[in-house]
Amino acid sequence: MVEVSTSILSVKKGEESKTFFALEASKTDYFHIDVMDGKFVEKDTYAKMLEYSSYIKRISNLPLDVHLMVNDIKKAIDDFIAVEPNIITFHLEACENEENVFENIKYIKENNSKVGIAIKPETNVEEIYKYLPYIHMCLVMTVEPGKGGQTYLSDMTEKVKTLKKYIDENNMEIDIEVDGGINLRTAPAVKKAGANILVAGTAILKAVDYKNIIDELKMEN
Ligand code: DX5
Ligand code: ZN
Repeated sequence: MVEVSTSILSVKKGEESKTFFALEASKTDYFHIDVMDGKFVEKDTYAKMLEYSSYIKRISNLPLDVHLMVNDIKKAIDDFIAVEPNIITFHLEACENEENVFENIKYIKENNSKVGIAIKPETNVEEIYKYLPYIHMCLVMTVEPGKGGQTYLSDMTEKVKTLKKYIDENNMEIDIEVDGGINLRTAPAVKKAGANILVAGTAILKAVDYKNIIDELKMEN
């Protein structure tokens, strides 16, 4: 069953509350929280995402899907655990070494959250394999992390297919989330490839009827 995680990165200033309530009513499965530190990626959304997450926590019971695009992963875990996220995902590329990856996995679990690892478009999918038995989700970036509204990188479809094949061949139950440029045009191919959680920001927030687009994105091919 395909789920949708709406990225709130591009919520219009002054319309936050109205948008969050409308997204909840439209049955998004998650709120996707794009945390950027201005170092791992150019933009800095850190304080804004912490404020939005705290607000959403107060008005909604929907789970938070926190995507950390930061260098200081431990600090971000400490800061965002306060909003009791359903899952915290960090970037493999922000980790110093294998030991640091396992430290982050352990620390997130100790703080009662599920764990995801994200990989940038240029990172080979094989680099994530050794961590899969210990995590709940792999986030395959389908754009270069750092901003919303970019165009889907079509060669990521093959990457999702390869990852799905490996997960199935090794009898693992791991979610594959795709993030960036996901819309009604790009969703069918990436779902067919094996993604079961679709992050969408622009495609949903620019729609007049959020529920309609969310339902369509979830539609089985
Ligand atoms: C990019 C973020 C994505 C982005 C998705 O760094 O991780 O979540 O906001 O936005 P759209 O759906 O507009 O590509
Ligand atoms: Zn994201």
